[in-house]
Amino acid sequence: MQLFIDTADPEAIKKYYDLGIIDGVTTNPSLAAKVGRAYRDIVNEIIQIVNGPISLEVLGTNYDEIMREARALAALSENVVVKIPMLPEGIKAVKHLSQEGIKTNVTLVFSAAQAWLAAKAGASYVSPFIGRIDDIAGDGIELIAEIRDIFDNGLYETKILAASDRTPRHVVQAAMLGADVATVKPENIDKLFKHPLSKDGLDKFLKDFESSGLEPLV
Ligand code: E4P
Repeated sequence: MQLFIDTADPEAIKKYYDLGIIDGVTTNPSLAAKVGRAYRDIVNEIIQIVNGPISLEVLGTNYDEIMREARALAALSENVVVKIPMLPEGIKAVKHLSQEGIKTNVTLVFSAAQAWLAAKAGASYVSPFIGRIDDIAGDGIELIAEIRDIFDNGLYETKILAASDRTPRHVVQAAMLGADVATVKPENIDKLFKHPLSKDGLDKFLKDFESSGLEPLV
């Protein structure tokens, strides 16, 4: 499973990209607003940092506006994946954009039926929002399993991008159920690294060696 970082903040993207574990980036209008800098500047910086898929979302909600924005966003870099909201006009745009060779990510997906429609239209990615389903007492992870079955049965090439993570467990379960990508917020990437036994173990290794009086090899 690939790991994307779910933020529009170039500094955070650079920090984690430098670790060599980030395959791509997802942004959305809320994440862009949170950075507090000119949108054009942050997008240009992200494009310079990341050599991998970068999802940028359209703001339009009708077919003509979505097509206009999508073509302009795709022209920014060959790595741009145009994020399109799950709407009938959005799905129509996905169909035509995929025929033009423009990569798309259908966002705000909350049901298997929506994911299937996106795949039928030729979306490159579909983004089920696991956490937001859990937030309202649903089962977001179950949706990943349903979509995996549908895509495998129909031989759809659309990639499942598990989005809206809340915990490391979401990421692990998405991987186990066959999601192609998990997009994870920077603070939650930190949590993926952490385990108290790793820290305790390293503290003890170093303390034991130091108190032994042994000379280090190098
Ligand atoms: C990803 O593409 C989405 O923008 C993001 O994961 C949404 O996460 P949230 O539900 O925490 O806002």
